[in-house]
Amino acid sequence: MLRYVTTNPGKVREAERYLRDGSVERLDFDYPEIQAAELGPIAARGAREAYRHLGEPVLVDDAGLFVEGLDGFPGPYSSYVEETLGIERVHDIAADLDDRRAAFRCVLGYCDGGGFAATPDPVDRGDRDAAAAAGPSGGGTEPDGNAPTDPLPVKLFEGYVPGRIVAPRGEGGFGYDPIFEHDGETFAEMDTDRKNAVSHRGRALEKFAEWYADR
Ligand code: IMP
Repeated sequence: MLRYVTTNPGKVREAERYLRDGSVERLDFDYPEIQAAELGPIAARGAREAYRHLGEPVLVDDAGLFVEGLDGFPGPYSSYVEETLGIERVHDIAADLDDRRAAFRCVLGYCDGGGFAATPDPVDRGDRDAAAAAGPSGGGTEPDGNAPTDPLPVKLFEGYVPGRIVAPRGEGGFGYDPIFEHDGETFAEMDTDRKNAVSHRGRALEKFAEWYADR
C-alpha cells in the first residue's frame, strides 16, 4: 500500500484518479519541512523522513506558486506567504506588475527504502546542501569526509502549469486557486476533473503513475 503523506484529503482524491483503486491511502504525518530555494530538496527530504517514520512506501509532494514578475516569489515559500499575507494581498501585489504571468509547480518525492536510480542532479546536490545545513541525520559521509549525505534513494516527479494572477474568482479548490487563471478559468472555477487534467499535481501524478506501474 502506498501512503500519500499530506494533511490535505483533496490531494489524495486527486492521486486516486491516477492510481489503481484502493492502492493509495492518506498518511497524516506532519514532517518537519526544511526551508530551501527549490521544491525538489524539500520533497526529497520529506519523503525520507516519512519513510523512516512509517517503514512503508511513501509519496510526498511539495508545491508552490511562482509569479514571473516577482522573480518566482513566493515559490517554495508559498505556504508561509498564504498564511501570513493571504492570497488577496498576493493578488494586490501582482496587480501592480506589468507581468502577471505565473505558474504552479509540484514535485512528488517517492521513497520505499529499496534501491533504484534516484533522481540525479539537481536534487542530490540540493539535498546535500540541505543535509549539510541540517547536520547529520543517520546518513553516511561524503568521500571528501565533510558534508553528510543521506543514502536513501528518492525518485522525483515534476509537474507544471502556466497561468496568470487575477482578482479572486470561484468557490472550489484550495490555497491560491481563486487567483490563478489558466485558459480563461481560475482553478477555483474548475471541477476536480478539469483541474486534474491541467494541474501541476495532475501532471506530476501522471508521470509517477506511469513509473510506479512497473515498480
Ligand atoms: P504544499 O506544498 O501543499 O504545502 O503547498 C504549498 C502552498 O501552495 C500552499 O500555500 C498551498 O495552499 C499552495 N498550493 C499547493 N497546491 C495548490 C493548488 O493546487 N492550488 C492552489 N494552491 C496550491
